[in-house]
Amino acid sequence: MSGTSRYRYLFSPLRVGPVTVRNRIVFAAHLTNFAEDGLPSRQHADYYAARAAGGAGLLITEEHSTHPTDWPYEKLIHGFHREVIPGYRAITAAVHAHDVPIFAQLNHNGGQASSMFSRLPVWAPSAVPDPMFREVPKAVERHEIAEIVAGYGTVAGHCAEGGFDGIELQCSHSSIVRGFLSPATNKRTDAYGGSLPCRARILLEIIDCVREAIGPDRALGVRICGDELIEGGSTLDEAVDVARMVEATGQVDYINTSIGVATASLFMIEASMSIPPGYALFIANAMRRAVRVPVIGVGRIKDPVQAERALAEGHCDLVGIVRGQIADPDFAAKARAGYPTQIRTCLSCNQECVGRMGLNRWLGCLENPRTGREAVPLPPPRRRARRVIVVGGGPAGLQAAATAAQRGHRVTLYERQPRTGGQVAVAATVPSRAEFLDVVRNLAAECQRGGVDVRTGVEATAESLRADAPDAVVLATGARPEPPYWAADHPRVVDVRDVLEGRAEPAGQVVVIDDLGFHQATSVAELLADRGCTVEIITAGMVVGQDLGITLDMETFNMRAHAKGIRQATDLVVTGATADGAGGEGTAADAAPAGVVLELLHHPTGQPARRHCDWVVCAVHQAPDDALWHQLRGAPFEVHRAGDCVTPRRAHAAVIEGHRAAVAL
Ligand SMILES: Cc1cc2nc3c(=O)[nH]c(=O)nc-3n(C[C@H](O)[C@H](O)[C@H](O)COP(=O)(O)O)c2cc1C
Ligand code: SF4
Repeated sequence: MSGTSRYRYLFSPLRVGPVTVRNRIVFAAHLTNFAEDGLPSRQHADYYAARAAGGAGLLITEEHSTHPTDWPYEKLIHGFHREVIPGYRAITAAVHAHDVPIFAQLNHNGGQASSMFSRLPVWAPSAVPDPMFREVPKAVERHEIAEIVAGYGTVAGHCAEGGFDGIELQCSHSSIVRGFLSPATNKRTDAYGGSLPCRARILLEIIDCVREAIGPDRALGVRICGDELIEGGSTLDEAVDVARMVEATGQVDYINTSIGVATASLFMIEASMSIPPGYALFIANAMRRAVRVPVIGVGRIKDPVQAERALAEGHCDLVGIVRGQIADPDFAAKARAGYPTQIRTCLSCNQECVGRMGLNRWLGCLENPRTGREAVPLPPPRRRARRVIVVGGGPAGLQAAATAAQRGHRVTLYERQPRTGGQVAVAATVPSRAEFLDVVRNLAAECQRGGVDVRTGVEATAESLRADAPDAVVLATGARPEPPYWAADHPRVVDVRDVLEGRAEPAGQVVVIDDLGFHQATSVAELLADRGCTVEIITAGMVVGQDLGITLDMETFNMRAHAKGIRQATDLVVTGATADGAGGEGTAADAAPAGVVLELLHHPTGQPARRHCDWVVCAVHQAPDDALWHQLRGAPFEVHRAGDCVTPRRAHAAVIEGHRAAVAL
């Protein structure tokens, strides 16, 4: 069945003011860090063009700053400089080549910024510091409000000259307009504060000014936050009233929606996999019931079935699919062609998209090594197919096999375990992490479609490989747990993988050591707490699960950890583990009755500390499983390696290197 008949709503056209979109799939606004010196770049043009070519109905760019006081992060597009116009033209031409409209999002981040880049005071409605930037903003005076409004008009004019088909005003999660709308940040007593109509005054002035700048032939939309999820902030009822006011201007063609505030409840804007798909649709639904213009719903809509359902159930008129199209630019085309299972569904892991934004790097994707690299051509595939053996069925091996097959090679993959997936398959077995397995499912399906001969439960050896005599071998043999020096072979000191793979069953009092600062320690702690253990996580760092902050998993983990009674201790280095003569709880199968005494050092003060527990579970650095690599030295065929068997890292490195190895074949 073709996608158009299967997805009746998704692939029906819609008028958005003066613009017609061919389907309801929107690539909504998101930062990319692709700008160079405040100007749009070639990277932008190629990135957006790939999503237009992939069938999206409408593209909305990342935000363009409307005023020099707004520079919250380095690689922001400074729309207020006329020099942006050639870059705008390159973007719009690249997208229009695929007959897809593209809107520009305009914004001033207001108090949700710092003066670090601009070296100008941060502007906001009132002197209320943002909890993340912690800088007291300057409360804008009347003439500065007029300057802000005019700035929107100027940038809208640049966008019109640059060929954009419409403008979206970001008034939702990180914006001076949101700052004005919100009772939490607007404490003014003049005409721009107090009642909702007064707090919305600046928005209505901006709408007038922008409409004047772009004329009637371009669309204008407003993105509104449906619930700030902060104490004293805007709530859904007020947001719906704002939508009504916006519509009543008669100048706005659509409403986009959002939830949360970028600097206080960010984890709800780009929700990670622990938050259910479609979690913010109630906002679009409420607005859609209040206005007649089209409304965009957004938030973890992962596949075309969910998108179709959001439309069919009347929650929204258009569906924002951001990470879904970061991961797979051809999301819409595959759905339309009737191949939805071929979509590389986004994991909502936030590791390479949101995570890289926070680190000031250009946008990428854990699942898609080509995201952000659209402009970099790959070498053409060889004319003659080669016989390739891939050893290891984790993400590195699967990616290598899939790409090698797509480039025309004949590929066999050996995995010694009964199933593919490697450590990802293990990591996905713990609470709230199941969707991580999608990367394995997606890659395994690509291998199958590419005709890769996948043999599980088969261990490739140096001898078997030499006997096979392929043209090339890609080793993706992964990493193995390496006990820390202080473990001293204590039977009750085990690795996370021992627990997740069922070789150890800790019970009673368990201490989890977090040396990695990611999901390993927090996941196993949750699992063990769910099994009735009393759990404490100890780290030498300043915070447990440090990197969960950049993937927006920190808040939700802490909420769950609190509910499960998981304790956390920081700044503690483990210096030794000895048998605890007092004994402890163990599994029936375990021969060692004694527990563990863990010697610790509080490194900021040099004070020793100690814990008596039944088990210690280590989330610590692993060692590369590189024996085959060494055994194959001098082999009469090419040998490549990828992922953790080079050196253990996170899944994105495995995928990137698997792809790189396959391209090099
Ligand atoms: C890396 C990244 C950056 C984002 N930056 C913006 C932004 O500049 N403006 C905006 O309105 N929304 C921004 N968003 C929010 C998205 O528009 C969208 O609401 C969110 O990603 C949820 O949709 P999804 O689950 O389909 O990804 C960003 C999202 C991501 C993933
Ligand atoms: S990095 Fe993860 S969350 Fe981001 S687009 Fe890729 S799969 Fe989705």
